[in-house]
Amino acid sequence: MMHAKSRTGLNPLLFVILFAVFTSEPIFAQILKPSTFGKILKSTQEENGLTILSEGANIQVIVYRPATIRIRIFKTGFADSLSYAVVKGPEKTKFQISETQESIRLVTDSLELRISKDPVRLTFLNRKGEILSEDETFSTQWIGQKVTTYKKLQPGEKFIGLGEKTGSLNRFGNAYTNWNSDVPGYSIGQDPLYVSTPFFMGIHSKNLYGIFLDNTYKTEFNFGASNRRFSSFSAEAGEMNYYFFARSSVQGILEEYTSLTGKMPLPPFWSLGYQQCRWSYTPDKEVKRMAETFREKEIPADVIYLDIDYMDNFKVFTWHPKNFSKPKELLQDLKQLGFHTVVIIDPGVKVEKGYHAYEEGRAQDLFVKYSDGDFYQGEVWPSWSHFPDFTNPKTRIWWGEKFQGLVETGVRGFWNDMNEPATWGQRYPDNTMFNFEGEIGTHLRAHNIYGLQMSRSTYEGAKKLMKGERPFILTRAAFSGVQRYSAVWTGDNAANDDHILLGVRLLNSMGLAGIPFVGVDIGGFNGEKSSQDLFGRWISVGAFSPFFRAHSMRGTRENDPWSYGEHVEMISKAFIKWRYTLLPYLYSQFEESSTTGAPIQRSLVYKTPFDPKVYDWAFENQFLLGDALMIAPLKSNEQYIRVYFPETDWYDVYTDELLSAGSEKIVFAPLEKLPVFARAGSVVIQQNVVMHTTETPSDTLYLHVYNGMSGGSFNYYEDDGLTYNFENGDFFKRVIEFIPSKKQILLSKPIGKRNSQRKKVKVILHGFENIRAVKVGGKTLKTAEEFLPLPMRAMEEWSPVKNFLNLKGKKISTVIVDFQSDEFSISW
Ligand code: GLC
Repeated sequence: MMHAKSRTGLNPLLFVILFAVFTSEPIFAQILKPSTFGKILKSTQEENGLTILSEGANIQVIVYRPATIRIRIFKTGFADSLSYAVVKGPEKTKFQISETQESIRLVTDSLELRISKDPVRLTFLNRKGEILSEDETFSTQWIGQKVTTYKKLQPGEKFIGLGEKTGSLNRFGNAYTNWNSDVPGYSIGQDPLYVSTPFFMGIHSKNLYGIFLDNTYKTEFNFGASNRRFSSFSAEAGEMNYYFFARSSVQGILEEYTSLTGKMPLPPFWSLGYQQCRWSYTPDKEVKRMAETFREKEIPADVIYLDIDYMDNFKVFTWHPKNFSKPKELLQDLKQLGFHTVVIIDPGVKVEKGYHAYEEGRAQDLFVKYSDGDFYQGEVWPSWSHFPDFTNPKTRIWWGEKFQGLVETGVRGFWNDMNEPATWGQRYPDNTMFNFEGEIGTHLRAHNIYGLQMSRSTYEGAKKLMKGERPFILTRAAFSGVQRYSAVWTGDNAANDDHILLGVRLLNSMGLAGIPFVGVDIGGFNGEKSSQDLFGRWISVGAFSPFFRAHSMRGTRENDPWSYGEHVEMISKAFIKWRYTLLPYLYSQFEESSTTGAPIQRSLVYKTPFDPKVYDWAFENQFLLGDALMIAPLKSNEQYIRVYFPETDWYDVYTDELLSAGSEKIVFAPLEKLPVFARAGSVVIQQNVVMHTTETPSDTLYLHVYNGMSGGSFNYYEDDGLTYNFENGDFFKRVIEFIPSKKQILLSKPIGKRNSQRKKVKVILHGFENIRAVKVGGKTLKTAEEFLPLPMRAMEEWSPVKNFLNLKGKKISTVIVDFQSDEFSISW
């Protein structure tokens, strides 16, 4: 009874209060003391896993695939919540559960999860019984709302991943924060930047595993920073919700991760070309002058950008009435010149009575509000602005439809910026509210996925409006899964040499986070360049990155191929041309990536995670473009670089010099010569130089085969480059395989409904003993002796690069064969 007196004569309620005051720790200590789980109380097998009730916390184990297990840990009860990153549920997967006095074991074809009962601790093992990852004694702990999972550091453990993060390839000894940030001119060690992908891999004693923490609050990763016991990952709030991947290769783990978070859709072919940007080309005449100059100078280019000044007072979905008074005509003219136009679209909608986006957004309740219901206003380019709530499905549809005018005007690409979200002052209020598909959350939960949801809304809207044409979307802020909607660039870098190499490392790491279509502002965005040469070197490195765009800040010197003197112009032109010859190779890589999730620009660790040299600071910037090419980037003021040759033998593409597997070499690399190598045993495809991707290339494909012990194959892919017809079989695909043991190149029977636009293929045999004739379908064809190194096709006219092409007595045999026939082989 509530008010009855007890035998002590005290009111029981008062008694409880006094008891609490005198016996328990002070309230603040209770809050600050880490809490964790004790022993198991009950475990239940479920259809796709296991639930465990224990002292202090509950666990849900969900088997997604044989090599993917999801772990959810709750302080109390169980709850459901949506994920914007993961788009695939658990697949029907075989697993067994067994139990002993001490532990519960869950075993799939690929891994074992052992859960000790007292206290509850999780250990992941491979099927050989080797430990991949095990909980530290701290296990999972809460301090206030913050939840952290601790894993024992394994002997010699290395860590890679987290996407757009500065620092070294091996992240051991460091810690990182995920909180998308607007960081103009960021320093080379700055953290966080614009993108959050809370996914990493651990590597130790020939074992590999991956962990993806699917929590959108501010998260932190510690890989042995300031301690020698643990690596950990934590979230400021929300649930401990992570996926564990057990595969024996980086490629395999990425496959698991992208099977959950999705793959890049095949972008339009034109978006692989060279792209020219500036804050801003204005007025319209200036934009046209740029495009015309490319054509006059015969420098290939495909895309021109309109930065914020094309708008009326920076109001999204408007055109500046004076400077861009006839946008449709402008875009037509640009199209005539072979240019696609991409326009910037920021999230901030100007607060201005009568402005359509403002009026509609308010009337339909589509903007972010404070917790008291007042529309939030933050200041950005258009001054005070409202912010669309992209976690509200209604807002996403509205926003998507707003692109109609732009699409009708002829715009085919949309550049989403300032979507961290950025505001002057950089303190978007915590107490602003977001819809979360009806779940409702604060800015603390929405911040890191704002860019992802904006990209989604832009992509879905544009795709619908473009009626069967593929849109190109670019974003600055992002979260895991952004590859499904958009390419990503690394924001406002700085115009200095350190940033050339930082940019390479960022892109290498983003590829390891499932985002293949990535690039940097070539030439550097922030500040004046340290030298003319900077642009020359940067564009040569950028020519081998997936997204190839030069961009610079207003008020700085122009950032185009001809603004740094004739010499740099020639270098830029040569490397842009080289890029254009590689477009069929690149496009085939894009297609592969859209189905496998593989990066296009690949850190060396992608293939050889157990080779300690790939983590060496001297070599960690080297990267692969696809499987066959390796680039060793360097600064503009350096002339020599020490290069490491991992895994196989490699050919210097300028000289065909063979460099043996595991060796190192100091390579002469003046500004005109970026070190590029071709893998022994590989196949590289080229075409002739075109000025833009809408120009039809010649009907001859160039097929470089580099001799090697183990051979290799290439999945050649073509389609219309523009529509989704490939989804209905309108493509041409064939495997080109070099089989050294048979002295043979095999071209498989093409699949797909499409005929190749290439009639002939010129086969260029590098590094073989003199091959004087080859057999093709019973016929003997004589080969020619021709010096045709890989950069040659790009260097048809004078260019400074040409001086470095050196025969040194190397013989190269070439032969032209018909590409249209069904399966056939070339043998010798
Ligand atoms: C941001 C972008 C930059 C753009 C500028 C003006 O700083 O990162 O690329 O040029 O805004 O829109």
